[in-house]
Amino acid sequence: MTIALETRGLSKSWGQFKANDNVTFQLRTGARHALIGPNGAGKTTLVHLLSGLEMPTKGEVWMDGKCINSLPPAARTARGLVRTFQISSLFPELTVLRSMLIPILQRKKMGANAWLPLGKLDAEVEEAKQALLRLNLWQDRNTQVATLAYGRQRVLDIALALATGPRVLLLDEPAAGVPTEESRELIQIVADLPRDVTVLLIEHDMDLVFRFAERITVMVDGRILTEGTAAEISTHPRVREVYLGEEQHD
Ligand SMILES: Nc1ncnc2c1ncn2[C@@H]1O[C@H](COP(=O)(O)OP(=O)(O)OP(=O)(O)O)[C@@H](O)[C@H]1O
Ligand SMILES: [Mg+2]
Repeated sequence: MTIALETRGLSKSWGQFKANDNVTFQLRTGARHALIGPNGAGKTTLVHLLSGLEMPTKGEVWMDGKCINSLPPAARTARGLVRTFQISSLFPELTVLRSMLIPILQRKKMGANAWLPLGKLDAEVEEAKQALLRLNLWQDRNTQVATLAYGRQRVLDIALALATGPRVLLLDEPAAGVPTEESRELIQIVADLPRDVTVLLIEHDMDLVFRFAERITVMVDGRILTEGTAAEISTHPRVREVYLGEEQHD
């Protein structure tokens, strides 16, 4: 078992408030790992610390056996540590195919070619086609991103992130606001990604979490409450009490 990404005693405070408090956590290579916890638990803060958007008050982030605290976000992305934003909304007027060419060309250090006619970008169009086919978006290739259904836009966010060539993908509530049927499809697409992509998924919907995750980490009040297999977490009494809000009866 190898570790794709790791934190050691990671903490983030704003004044007296500890949004992340001594978080030590390992993401195994190839994992389908979910991070859950109530609102305000510190999950998004942890993703900010992992992606380099925020600096920790204390502790370290490690990738490939090296501390990457000093690396800015772009350098982490270049190493394959990628998070989704709602990047599809950056180019609402582009078609799905055109928007896919942007991260592909960037990855190939050919960003300046993004506006060439499609006929001059055969290799990149072919790569985009294969990616869109895999994510069931090829039939939408000529649709303007702004007019895509919301759930399809969220799948496109994932396609755009994948085009950057990630080894570790951090997904912060990718299915938020997506209707149930489509959100299941989206999470299944993520679960079925090639195993050389390690995935950390933040998600509130426990049905989706249990469909996706082999391991689950539970965060409460900035700390890790527990971690285990989906079966262990679903029966953990403190998790049921704290996260699922169930009263305990003796
Ligand atoms: N820049 C900031 N300054 C001060 N407090 C912050 C800042 N960013 C986040 N917080 C606080 O840190 C706590 C953790 O926030 P965070 O967004 O990480 O939680 P979360 O687990 O992602 O919650 P949700 O499930 O609602 O997305 C919250 O109480 C939030 O108000
Ligand atoms: Mg959050």
